[in-house]
Amino acid sequence: MKNRILFIATLCLTSHIVTTYALPANYTVVAPQCLTKNLSGVNHTLASTSKFSLLQVNRQGLNQLIAAKHQGENACGGFFNVTADWHEQTAPKVFLEKFIAPPVATNSHKAAYAINYSDQVKQLMGQLNPDNMWASLTTLTNFHDRYSNSDNGVAASNWLKDQVDAMVKSSGRNDVSIRFIPTRSIIAGRAGSFNTSATYKQSSLVVKIGNSNASGIVIGAHMDTLNGQMPGADDDGSGTVTVLELAKILINSNMQFKKPIYLIWYSAEEEGLIGSGYTEKYFKSLQMGVDAVIQFDMTGFSYQNDPTIWLMKDYTDPELTAFLETLINTYVKRPVKYTACGYACSDHATWTQQGYKAAIAYEGEMKPPGHPVPGQIIKDNTYIHTTMDTMEKLSLTHMTDYAKLGIAFAVELAGPIA
Ligand code: BES
Ligand code: ZN
Repeated sequence: MKNRILFIATLCLTSHIVTTYALPANYTVVAPQCLTKNLSGVNHTLASTSKFSLLQVNRQGLNQLIAAKHQGENACGGFFNVTADWHEQTAPKVFLEKFIAPPVATNSHKAAYAINYSDQVKQLMGQLNPDNMWASLTTLTNFHDRYSNSDNGVAASNWLKDQVDAMVKSSGRNDVSIRFIPTRSIIAGRAGSFNTSATYKQSSLVVKIGNSNASGIVIGAHMDTLNGQMPGADDDGSGTVTVLELAKILINSNMQFKKPIYLIWYSAEEEGLIGSGYTEKYFKSLQMGVDAVIQFDMTGFSYQNDPTIWLMKDYTDPELTAFLETLINTYVKRPVKYTACGYACSDHATWTQQGYKAAIAYEGEMKPPGHPVPGQIIKDNTYIHTTMDTMEKLSLTHMTDYAKLGIAFAVELAGPIA
């Protein structure tokens, strides 16, 4: 039995009574120390390096980490929820050092990136219907929330699945499969191998286009929001409807590809990139290869209508990211600039961490370290993670540009069969 229980003994000197609390330490996380120093929720440090710690926390501790991260006054960086990866059989220090070492993309095949299919890309780009994206975003933001542990979150995921089901039916295609990947350990009944307590009601949704068993490409966004009244229009309704529009166009195209295209809506990103972590485990367990990943997380807000498309330099593959710049120059024809999150800010980072080539195109410039400072102009969407992350602040033109990039990515990297 490897159930992780954290025992906290409090010696009460005044009354000479020893009180022992047994509290479940549900989550194992890797977090930068600047984020953990004010933790008052139950936590237990398993190992540390100069900057990071491997900790076990209960739900309260996890909430404190999320809150500390979202205070946002510092450039401290985020934390990784590694509950599903942490094995007690491994020495904590070895696990931690391996985890924070720069990942090597050995799981994806090396690629010679080139523009080969401009006719097909342009043909599909002509099918884009921005009004569809706007209509889908209206529906998604009308859920009270898409929180990964709420019935609303489950309803939103079912709505997405119903949309794709309808697309498949109307296209008559028989090479599209749709499945939910539960946000919990997929190896049931092996207590001890995994801590199965980090479960969320909402599952990630994976749509596979094509029957091939070759290594595929992944295009993703996260469907979840934080808990509370959360329209999540920009974060990440924008990416969610971008991927939904790609689904419609690719499925309707009747085009077949050399590589399977996986369209994924992750659950529980906001809880520490949990849904993508489980999705990657699922892919690995079935030996479903992945050669390239793109993440769309926040594509709708453009400061003063700046059309620049921003590419993240950290937790991404440099060659794949450079190829995104080529795709944007060739097909989207917008300025490209580079920025960095400074931490594992979205689901591309878990793919990178797991040894895959991943990239992310983002709506604007990330906050510089120390942001905000007095007098500094804030250029990013400050309304995310609040009730005010609503649609009227977004640019449909900007969002559509990312959908164009998604089409170019899908066609050029999956390779249409003539
Ligand atoms: N969409 C946000 C943040 C983001 C910013 C993603 C820039 C991509 C580019 C994302 O959903 C989020 O809130 N992430 C968390 C980290 C996560 C590990 C809980 C964050 O930034 O605090
Ligand atoms: Zn997000």
